[in-house]
Amino acid sequence: MLAATFQRMAQKAVDREHEKRVPWLMRRRHFFTAAAGIASAFRGDALLRARTAIDAAAGRPADSVARDEDFWFQVRHAFTVDRNMVNLNNGGVSPAPKIVMDTEIRYLEVENLSPSYYMWHILDPGIETVRRRLARSFGCDPEEIAITRNASESLEIVQLGLTLKAGDEVLTTNQDYPRMITTWQQRERRDGIVLKQITFPVPPPSLDYLAKRIEENITPRTKVIHICHITNRTGQIFPVKRICQMARARGIEVVVDGAHAFGQFPFEQRDLDCDYYGTSLHKWILAPIGTGMLYVRKNKIANIWPMMGAPDTMRENIRKFEEIGTHPASQRNAITEALNFSESIGLERKAERLRYLRRRWSDRLRQLPGVKILNSDDPEQSCGIGFVSVDGISAPKLASHIWQKYRIWTTAVVTPSEYEGLRITPNVYTTLEEIDTFTDVMTRIIQRGSLV
Ligand SMILES: Cc1ncc(COP(=O)(O)O)c(C=O)c1O
Repeated sequence: MLAATFQRMAQKAVDREHEKRVPWLMRRRHFFTAAAGIASAFRGDALLRARTAIDAAAGRPADSVARDEDFWFQVRHAFTVDRNMVNLNNGGVSPAPKIVMDTEIRYLEVENLSPSYYMWHILDPGIETVRRRLARSFGCDPEEIAITRNASESLEIVQLGLTLKAGDEVLTTNQDYPRMITTWQQRERRDGIVLKQITFPVPPPSLDYLAKRIEENITPRTKVIHICHITNRTGQIFPVKRICQMARARGIEVVVDGAHAFGQFPFEQRDLDCDYYGTSLHKWILAPIGTGMLYVRKNKIANIWPMMGAPDTMRENIRKFEEIGTHPASQRNAITEALNFSESIGLERKAERLRYLRRRWSDRLRQLPGVKILNSDDPEQSCGIGFVSVDGISAPKLASHIWQKYRIWTTAVVTPSEYEGLRITPNVYTTLEEIDTFTDVMTRIIQRGSLV
C-alpha cells in the first residue's frame, strides 16, 4: 500500500501554472540544495521515497502541499517522538528531528574524546559555518549574528546591554514574555528606568490598530520599545517593520522578541527592518535544546555591552556576545543540520501546514457554545499558534484534566483579569488523528459543560 502511495506521489505532474504562483520566498530558498539536504534527514530506505516526495511536491503551491498527507507522512517519520501522548505544546520547546539529535550526539562524543583539543580546536571553528547559515536564513551579514543558548539570553544581552539612565521609558505590552518583562523590571529597580506595559484585545482589530496602540503610548522619555514578533500567548503577529521604522524616525530603539517566529513562517531581516532580534532555535527551527540566535545591526553592535565582559578590541565584533566561558560545541554545531531539515521542508509549506492544522481544530471548536478562539484568523496576523478559551472552565484545570485522562499535552495561559485558555501548538510531525483526538475530547467536555 505504501509503495502505491509513493508511486502516486511520484506521478503527480508538476503544474507549471502552479509553479508560477509559488511564493517568491520559497523559490528563492535554494530549493534544490534543500532537497539534497532532506535526503540526509531520512533514514534507510526512506531516503529514496523522501526524494520522490520532495520532487513530487516541487512547484506545487504551499497550501496544496499543506493538505498532502503523503508528504507529511514522510516528514513525521524523521522524528522519534512519543506517539502515546499528543504533544500540543511544541511552542514551549520542540523535539529535534532524529538527524539533528544524531548529529548532536556525534559531536558530543567527539568533543568528549579530549575536550581541550577536540572541542576547542576541532569543533569550535564550526561555529563560523553555523553563523553563515543562520545569516543566510535570516537574510543578513554573518557579522551580525551571535549564537546564544536561547531567546532569553539573546534578548537579555540587549535589554541589559543598552545604556539607559534613570527616568528613561521602555514601552512594551502586558502580553510580552514574562522573563523579558522581569528583566526590564530589574532595570527599574537597579537603574531607575520606567517600564510601561500597554494592553491590547485578542484578537486585535488589525495590524494598524497594534501599530497605533504602540505609537500613541510613546512619550518624549521613551527610549526603547520591546515587542514580540509573534506573541507566545495567542500567537498574535505584530507589524514589526512599521513599528521599527516609526521608532527609528524618533530615535527610539526597538527590541524584537522573535522566540516563536524564526522557523515558524518565512521572513527575512529586511521584512522587519529591525536593529535587534533575539530568538530561540529549539522552538520552530528544530535545533538542539539550548540554542538561540541574536541579530544586531552592524552599526549598533558597539552600543551594546555584552552580558559577560569582553575586551575593548571586540567592541564592534558580534562575537563579544558569545564570550560566556566554556560551553559545549555539540548543540551549537548541530544547528546547521536543523537548518537543512527546515529548509528542505520549505518554510512556506511549513507555515501553511501549521495554519491548516490550527484551522482544523479551531473551526470545529468555535461552533460550540461558550468557546472563543482568541488567535486571529488573518494569515498576516497568525500562523501555527492557536488559542481556545472556554467560558466557565478554568484553563489550568482543563489542561490538567485532558492530560491526566487523555494524555493530551497543552499549556494553560492566564492573562490576569483579561482572558485565559489553552495555547495549542502542533508541529510538522503532528498527525491529523492527533488533532482530531484533541478536538473530539474538547467537544465532549464543552458540550457537557464539565470536566468529565
Ligand atoms: C515570546 C517568548 N520570548 C522569549 C522566550 C524565552 O525563550 P527561551 O526559554 O528559549 O529562552 C519565550 C519562551 O517560550 C517566548 O515565548
